[in-house]
Amino acid sequence: MPGYKLAIDGPAGSGKSTISSIIAKKLGWTHIDTGAMYRAVTLLAIEFHIDLNDEASYRFLESVQIHYDNNRIYINDRDVTEAIRTEAVTQNVSLASSFPYVRQKLVELQQIAAENGNIVMDGRDIGTVVLPHADLKIFLTANVEERAQRRYKENVKKGKQAHISQVIEDIVIRDQKDSTRKESPLRKASDAVELDTTFLTIDQVVNKIIELTDKKEINHGV
Ligand code: DC
Repeated sequence: MPGYKLAIDGPAGSGKSTISSIIAKKLGWTHIDTGAMYRAVTLLAIEFHIDLNDEASYRFLESVQIHYDNNRIYINDRDVTEAIRTEAVTQNVSLASSFPYVRQKLVELQQIAAENGNIVMDGRDIGTVVLPHADLKIFLTANVEERAQRRYKENVKKGKQAHISQVIEDIVIRDQKDSTRKESPLRKASDAVELDTTFLTIDQVVNKIIELTDKKEINHGV
């Protein structure tokens, strides 16, 4: 596996995608947001009106291509970057991503995507399942109120209406589902560095992680 592999995991709203995207841009690396891939599967499942509780119904994945490129997510050639952020997708993504068949399909795609070059990959099982031999594993946390505040501010910026108590409830439910599912639940890898971002700015988190990659004496951008 040539290139540096940086795995960033953590619960909803811990800042994984934002942080990963900034690090990738700063270092000239490739960022892969695996949550966006699970969201794309969920979007399609909703559009196809399948029974979301039936694992076999997700077989449609045999005939579609899902890929993440340059901060955009595609189903075949269709750009679904905005479409995967709807409430319906958020409400159902934990269910869709709990099925072994769905996970096996996406993990395979993620491992292929990470084969070449310097990669920052973020998700829930990157350090434990997708890239168990990553050069550096980070587990981002933040208390639930802070994570909800971040989501809430994001929503307001996008013109979405939601009460803060509703956002807290959504996050608590998703955390619970993501960390208690049977198949590769959200969990800190034993060799991951845990970073509590509750009282840190985005810049501070980015710099801390870059510092940690530096400690491994890599050559940025190569
Ligand atoms: O990062 P996110 O909130 O956009 O992820 C959406 C959902 O996808 C999350 O609730 C659980 C699932 N997911 C997963 O099961 N495994 C991953 N590697 C990434 C996301």
